[in-house]
Amino acid sequence: MSALPALMTEIGFSQPGGPEVLQPRRVPVPQPGPGQVLVKVRAAGVNRPDVLQRRGLYPMPPGVTPVPGLEVAGEVVAVGAPDDKPVSLGHGGHAGQAAPSPGLAKPGFQVGDEVCGLTDGGGYAEFCLVPASQLLPKPAALDFVHAAALPETFFTVWANLFMMGRARAGETLLVHGGTSGIGMTALMLAREFGLRAVSTDGGPEKGEVARRFGAELSIDHRTQDFLPEVMAWSGGRGVDLVLDILGASAFERNLSVLRKDGRLLLIGFMGGDKVESLSIMPILLKRLVVTGSTMRARTPAEKAEIAQQLQDKVWPVLAAGRCAPHVHRTFALDQAAEAHRLMESRQHVGKIVLIT
Ligand SMILES: NC(=O)c1ccc[n+]([C@@H]2O[C@H](COP(=O)([O-])OP(=O)(O)OC[C@H]3O[C@@H](n4cnc5c(N)ncnc54)[C@H](OP(=O)(O)O)[C@@H]3O)[C@@H](O)[C@H]2O)c1
Repeated sequence: MSALPALMTEIGFSQPGGPEVLQPRRVPVPQPGPGQVLVKVRAAGVNRPDVLQRRGLYPMPPGVTPVPGLEVAGEVVAVGAPDDKPVSLGHGGHAGQAAPSPGLAKPGFQVGDEVCGLTDGGGYAEFCLVPASQLLPKPAALDFVHAAALPETFFTVWANLFMMGRARAGETLLVHGGTSGIGMTALMLAREFGLRAVSTDGGPEKGEVARRFGAELSIDHRTQDFLPEVMAWSGGRGVDLVLDILGASAFERNLSVLRKDGRLLLIGFMGGDKVESLSIMPILLKRLVVTGSTMRARTPAEKAEIAQQLQDKVWPVLAAGRCAPHVHRTFALDQAAEAHRLMESRQHVGKIVLIT
């Protein structure tokens, strides 16, 4: 492995605003601290939370880099000292199926390993520091571009649907935005783990893609109301789970579409975050669980636990080629603004990825 350069290019912004605020700049290559790994980024995924962050609308956790980029794939080029602090699941840990596992085994990554990982920010760069406990081996079946498209949506969907939502084979699921990065991951994992899914999608072409990725029914949210459509599809019973990116605009109908013991998993607010007036009776009468989360606000131990579950349960599925992320388009790193314009146009299907 050749010596590391002193400087690298990253994409940052000094003021929130439109895509044009994203600008390349030259900065020192960072050094890994305890528990961190330095990754030579070959590809970095673009996610809707990056757009919110750029617009100044994302509640950033304290102490993280302001450089966007929540997921990367590349090669390990430096490894920090082991982090001796015991990794324990603190209070407020997720309500997952797995028993809390204090003291997760530390992954032993080495220089030269091909990896992908959930960052704490800073993925839009030639090099990125990633906590070792949030790294996973790059699935051999995938190239760097597709591996970079995995972490943010796979961590989020796994944590919400399977850990917090306790999704089980045989259950039914409504996914809003079936061709979003999140939505396609949810549809793929639902199919793989034996759930029956339907999705809302912006038009017949997107609906066709959603069906290919596992939706039994696509509802065109531009022309159809999902509530009667899902009720008809489910024989009037409703669904067990809703994975929701819309928030306020769908909240009441999401409660209505759930059957007894249903779970509403809120992960976005594309339809607003304020519900004006609403009867809570469906929650009481149907014994519903309403919950939500953001991935960035989770503790390192929680993210490590999700990474471990993904490696155990989902990475074998990727290795077997049974599912893979759909990459709509790639852009060069210095075209990050164009990548954001495409995402905000909603013309894309699946993931947008930057390559260095
Ligand atoms: N909580 C977390 O930890 C977490 C983590 C990652 C992402 N997220 C959230 O998940 C969402 C998706 O993120 P992403 O990166 O996958 O973004 P994305 O690929 O840009 O997807 C956005 C999606 O929103 C859909 N949409 C907009 N209005 C809709 C409506 N009225 N009905 C149904 N779908 C609608 C769009 O579908 P059409 O174009 O078909 O209309 C599009 O598929 C965002 O809200 C993001 O903030 C949350």
